[in-house]
Amino acid sequence: MEYSIVADKLTKKFGDFTADNAISLKVKDGEIFGILGPNGAGKTTLISMLTTLIKPTSGHAYVLGHDVMKDALEVRKSIGVITEKVTMYPPLTAEENLMFFGRLYGINKKDLEQRINKGLEEFQLSKFRKRPVGTFSLGMKRRLDLVRVLLNEPKVFFLDEPTVGLDPITVSFIKKKIRDINKKGSTIILTTHIMQDADELSDRVALIDHGNLMVCDTPRNLKKKLGKNATLEDVFIHYAGAELRDETEKMSLAPRRGM
Ligand SMILES: Nc1ncnc2c1ncn2[C@@H]1O[C@H](COP(=O)(O)OP(=O)(O)OP(=O)(O)O)[C@@H](O)[C@H]1O
Ligand SMILES: [Mg+2]
Repeated sequence: MEYSIVADKLTKKFGDFTADNAISLKVKDGEIFGILGPNGAGKTTLISMLTTLIKPTSGHAYVLGHDVMKDALEVRKSIGVITEKVTMYPPLTAEENLMFFGRLYGINKKDLEQRINKGLEEFQLSKFRKRPVGTFSLGMKRRLDLVRVLLNEPKVFFLDEPTVGLDPITVSFIKKKIRDINKKGSTIILTTHIMQDADELSDRVALIDHGNLMVCDTPRNLKKKLGKNATLEDVFIHYAGAELRDETEKMSLAPRRGM
C-alpha cells in the first residue's frame, strides 16, 4: 500500500464551531508526518478522528485502508496512540500496567512477557518495573507509555505532543526512539509546538490554522520558499500569523451555556 493514512474533506464541528474544516491529506507508508498549528488549531481533533476516538461530522478517512467510521475496530487494532495525557493506572506498577494493556491488546502471555522485558530494557525502566506508576516522573511516564504502545507492534503511531513538559535529555532520548521506531517500518504522525523537533523529525509537515489545512510539504521546501535562512518557525508565522490564540474568539462564535 502506498498511503498509511488518507483523509478526504475530514470535518469536525462542535455545535456551530468548526474545529476541522474539510481537511484532505495523505500520509505515505513509512513517513514521519508532523502536524503543526497554533493552540486550538484542530490538531488533536484531527488525530482523534483518525484514531476513531471521535466521529467526523463529515468527510472520510482511512488508516491502512480501513474506514475510520465503518471499520473502527480494524483501525484500532493496527495503530498505537500516545495522547497528551498519559494513559496509565497510577496505583498499578509499571509491570502490572503493561500486563493489563498487553492482555487488552490480545497478546499471549509468553510473547507479552518477552515484549515487556524488552520494552522496559530499551526505555531504561527495568529497575522501576515494580514501582507504582503514580510515583513516576513525567519523563518516566512518557517512556512507559511508549513501551505500552510498542507492545502491540503497531504499523501506525499517533503521537500527540510526545515531548511536551520533558527535560532536554528525555526529549533527545524520545526523539531517537521515534526515529528508531520509524526505521523499523512504522509510519508516525506527530504533533508538536517545538519547531526544531518538527524540522528534525518530519519527512513532511502539514500546517493547520483555524481548522484549515494551510500548507503541506517537506520542511526543506517550505523553508526554501520563504528565503535562504528561513526556519520552520518563520514558515509557521508566515502561514498562521503572529496573532495570539485564546478562547475569546471561539466563545464568541460558539457561546457555551453556563459560562
Ligand atoms: N469536545 C469539544 N467540545 C467543544 N469544543 C471542542 C471540543 N474539543 C475541542 N474543541 C475545540 O476545538 C478547537 C480545536 O481543538 P484541538 O484540541 O483540536 O486543538 P489543538 O490544535 O490540538 O490545540 P493545542 O495545540 O492547544 O493542543 C479548540 O478551539 C477547542 O476548544
Ligand atoms: Mg492538541
